[in-house]
Amino acid sequence: MSLLESGSPEQLIGHTIHHYTEVESTNTTAGELAERGVPEGTVVLADLQTRGQGRLERRWLSLSGKGLWFTVILRPRENPATAVQLTLMAAIATAAGIERVTGIRPGIKWPNDLLVQGKKVCGILCEMVAGDEIDHIIIGIGINTNLAFADLPPELRGTATSLRMATGKAIDNKELLREVLQQIDSWYILWQKEGFAPVQGEWNKRNVTLGREIKVDCGDRCYFGRAVSIDENGALLLREDDGKESKFNFGEVSIRYRE
Ligand code: BTN
Repeated sequence: MSLLESGSPEQLIGHTIHHYTEVESTNTTAGELAERGVPEGTVVLADLQTRGQGRLERRWLSLSGKGLWFTVILRPRENPATAVQLTLMAAIATAAGIERVTGIRPGIKWPNDLLVQGKKVCGILCEMVAGDEIDHIIIGIGINTNLAFADLPPELRGTATSLRMATGKAIDNKELLREVLQQIDSWYILWQKEGFAPVQGEWNKRNVTLGREIKVDCGDRCYFGRAVSIDENGALLLREDDGKESKFNFGEVSIRYRE
């Protein structure tokens, strides 16, 4: 059962919001809509996802009303190499929206995990369809708003949190969605006008990865070293423990704490 909500007609991002009570994954639904040609800025929102997708083929816990689970469709006429920039753009815009509504300042772990008090409060999963140019990119954003500690399975209790757990207050999902969509709108316009530099500057201010000893898990292999910088395309530069420099466009970063 789905209903179409009216978004903000004066904004590109969220001019139309497809709001479902339940879907498998808003990324899957958004991908289907994008293939059918819906315009840029369309948003798919669900109260509940039955197969929420995380990065590296993990599942994303998406209980009804306990979070904001939504996907934004973009159609930048750009080289596919710029896609990583958009994932970083989504992270800073979402962090800014959260900060405005809650007063909490999330940090960003490369590429786009939002952390509060060292625990993950938001994850972002981007998927792209491209040839020589991007056809569309879908940006799936999951923010744990009202999850309680007891909602978390034991294996996530040490690493995940919610805005409610961090502030002690219930979060108004609608207000937060409005603010985050407004921020994505502004940052996307700026990115189109001025390129990656402003996004990179803001990302650097929020980063909790650079300068740290980290592990990058690429699924088939793990790399250890110090995170040096992100390059002009948003890729992570790592100085490995043996002195070699490596560049990553994807991978799961964990921060290593030395005794
Ligand atoms: C991650 O593993 O950090 C990414 C999590 C992304 C979750 C969001 S929730 C909305 C959208 N739909 C999905 O199935 N996944 C993303």
